Amino acid sequence: MNTSHFSSANAPLRLLGGLSAEQFLQQYWHKKPLLIRSAIADFEGLLTPNEMAGLACEDDVQSRLVIQKESQWILENGPFSEQRFAELPEQGWTLLVQSLNHHLRSASLLMQDFSFLPYTRLDDVMVSYAPDGGGVGPHFDSYDVFLLQGMGQRLWRISEQKDLRLIEGAPLKILQRFDTSQEWLLNPGDMLYLPPHLAHWGIAVGECMTYSIGFRAPSQQELISAFFAFLQEQDWGEGRYQDPDLAFTHQPAKISQAMSQKVAQMLQEVSFTPALIEAFLASYLSEPKSHVLIDAPKKISQQQFVQRALKAGVSLGLQSQMLYTQQHVYLNGQVLEVPYVAKALFEKLADQRGLDTDSLNQGVMAETLAVLYQMYLDGCLTLNSIS
Ligand code: SIN
Ligand code: CO
Repeated sequence: MNTSHFSSANAPLRLLGGLSAEQFLQQYWHKKPLLIRSAIADFEGLLTPNEMAGLACEDDVQSRLVIQKESQWILENGPFSEQRFAELPEQGWTLLVQSLNHHLRSASLLMQDFSFLPYTRLDDVMVSYAPDGGGVGPHFDSYDVFLLQGMGQRLWRISEQKDLRLIEGAPLKILQRFDTSQEWLLNPGDMLYLPPHLAHWGIAVGECMTYSIGFRAPSQQELISAFFAFLQEQDWGEGRYQDPDLAFTHQPAKISQAMSQKVAQMLQEVSFTPALIEAFLASYLSEPKSHVLIDAPKKISQQQFVQRALKAGVSLGLQSQMLYTQQHVYLNGQVLEVPYVAKALFEKLADQRGLDTDSLNQGVMAETLAVLYQMYLDGCLTLNSIS
């Protein structure tokens, strides 16, 4: 059952300039750029440059400074000191803060506006700040991106060029040449969708802040190594290599065909059933990235938790990811044991990243409330404020 809050695949969405999710996916996704004027009406951004600089000084926030000195590009990784910002020149740099949705509820809600695309593909919201003329230079990304203009204006140039050679030795991907095929000046609330590998270049026109809603698409290499790591954690395989038919050899250092055939057979016993692949994907894709720290909650009793949850509703913690398969619900890389009859409720929690009071007041069982309380204690669920 689809519990998504999207009423239908073909309802026109303002966020997509009046296209439906289905039209966008068929005509633009992974295919061609789309400029959407006033995708979010009266959008003023989610934080001020000062608040952003504050985040970039924190240990658990991933931040970067990209500085351009004549034709040289310099990359510095955060956290930064306040002093570092005071030393920056007036122009020629940009500050980037990754995973803003892990730190600001408003950014997490912004990301949810894009949930006509699966959470397994959505990665994070990044914010950039640049003084006039600043930016990360001409480049291409390996992922789709929605570039939503916050404060100020940014000139976006795109190029249909096939030449994607990069400046060698630069600490970030910068194209050697850039032939503009189209350009647009974006105002607050305007948004540009770009498919992967399309060359682009965003230049701040005056001070500006841009929000990038980015996607994840693991490489085959990443998937293979993560899959084998996942198998290792499961209790796969029993028995041991056996060779009652072992034949004499005068080449004892040689790996025999008989041995490789037997081992191939042992390995092939791992059958790649859809259930196994789904379990792997749910665990792998809900696993927090290595730098993520889950905030500890204020300790309260289960009774207090339940009272407040029923009055105000709950939300998934900003750093938490919840996905589900046909069989199980996964939270931050692990199976979450939920009462069988409550699976639909947890699916709703995962889809909507929260449960409203109506959902919680429909005779939710004590066992379910206990699971929610444990999630709260683990810092994976927060109580909404009473309005
Ligand atoms: C930026 O916001 O400055 C960079 C975003 C991008 O080019 O992908
Ligand atoms: Co880019």
